[in-house]
Amino acid sequence: MPNPVSGFSKKTKAEKIDWLATHYLDEDSDAISILKKYWNPDGKLQDLHDDFIENTLTNYYLPFGIAPNFLINGNLYALPMVIEESSVVAAASNAAKFWLNKGGFHTKILGTTKNGQVYFNFFGKKETLQSFFESVLPRLKGSIEDIEKNMKKRGGGLLDIELKDSTEKLNGFYQLHCTFETLDAMGANFINSCLETIARTFETEAQKQPIFENEGGCPEVVMSILSNYVPECRVQAEVSCPVSDLDPNPENAQEFADRFVRAVNIAQTEPRRAVTHNKGIMNGIDAVILATGNDFRAVEAGIHAYASKDGHYKSLTHASVEDNTFRFGIDIPLALGTVGGLTSLHPLVKLAFKILQKPNAQELMQIVAVAGLAQNFAAIKSLVTTGIQKGHMKMHLMNILNQVNANMQEKEKAVDHFKEQTVSHSAVVEFIENLRS
Ligand code: MEV
Repeated sequence: MPNPVSGFSKKTKAEKIDWLATHYLDEDSDAISILKKYWNPDGKLQDLHDDFIENTLTNYYLPFGIAPNFLINGNLYALPMVIEESSVVAAASNAAKFWLNKGGFHTKILGTTKNGQVYFNFFGKKETLQSFFESVLPRLKGSIEDIEKNMKKRGGGLLDIELKDSTEKLNGFYQLHCTFETLDAMGANFINSCLETIARTFETEAQKQPIFENEGGCPEVVMSILSNYVPECRVQAEVSCPVSDLDPNPENAQEFADRFVRAVNIAQTEPRRAVTHNKGIMNGIDAVILATGNDFRAVEAGIHAYASKDGHYKSLTHASVEDNTFRFGIDIPLALGTVGGLTSLHPLVKLAFKILQKPNAQELMQIVAVAGLAQNFAAIKSLVTTGIQKGHMKMHLMNILNQVNANMQEKEKAVDHFKEQTVSHSAVVEFIENLRS
């Protein structure tokens, strides 16, 4: 076992790789050359990527693709998607095409405010705390004047601070619940800077109040941080059409609509299905979030919490058939940015925004919600008809061929052969072995 290393981040990249090679890679020159193979020959571009995180050794590629033909509120988009799973972009493209001549996707912003909390302890009388809070509120708001100057000029900033009594949940637990409008910025740094300043002001002002001496001490801040749960920053997307438009054969159309709605209702009631159902939605959402340099962990955490808002984890989408009309929609919280963070740094993120015709944050929310809805439509469509594996394995065929080092000719023959045959790992291996023998 190697000894712990100190001062690692101060080493040069070459020294870090040497250290890794010595302690974890048995000086394996192949491993080192893999790391180096992924360096970008453009030194400036490589430096940019190196600076995104600490201790960068190399780059990690994921495919960047596009799903065209997305008609959203009458505008035609090609969605940039970054994802490793073979069938996701194909499924998104299929869903986009399916809805293209049926009116496309319609979306609506349901809210844009974000929130953060100053969490603190106070064990005295609630009335004392309440009257202190009311007296100090203007100073709390004033303390972030400098931080929010630019945001305010653009029409955003802090909207409100509320004192929340959470002592029923935890003894002495109170919060300053702060709401913000951060416009086109995701706003994490802005919100956290505001919260930390508000927290300092709150504590400093409290320490000046003699009344707290008889109240078991001043309020004591535990921590201040934005919340990734943003149910007030929400978007909905929907598709609808006459049931008869779902399939040229009227009986099939009705059967498909019924089975589809049933599948969504199962995900509304059964958490085990809901998790997988929502995972499929996140296939589309995360792929666009990654392409546009947004924080997919924040989005994932917020969306899954929202899926549990009614007391059990359930589907983020809903479907119905009424008056011979099929409707399918999604309603999700999304805190996204189109300025700040990686958006102005990563060349491919900049390109993704260009592809999307430079959306603002609200437009991006709508596009991302559509990506989730489309992905879910494609998954359920397969699940209630052919099953998922047919399309999935067709797309996965190339990965299996690459695993067995198939050459160009072998790949062509395999693709042709598996047009009519079921793809499985063993069937592909056998096919290639037969070709080679
Ligand atoms: C696979 O990545 C996603 C699906 O499992 C989603 C679903 O089951 O709805 C196909």
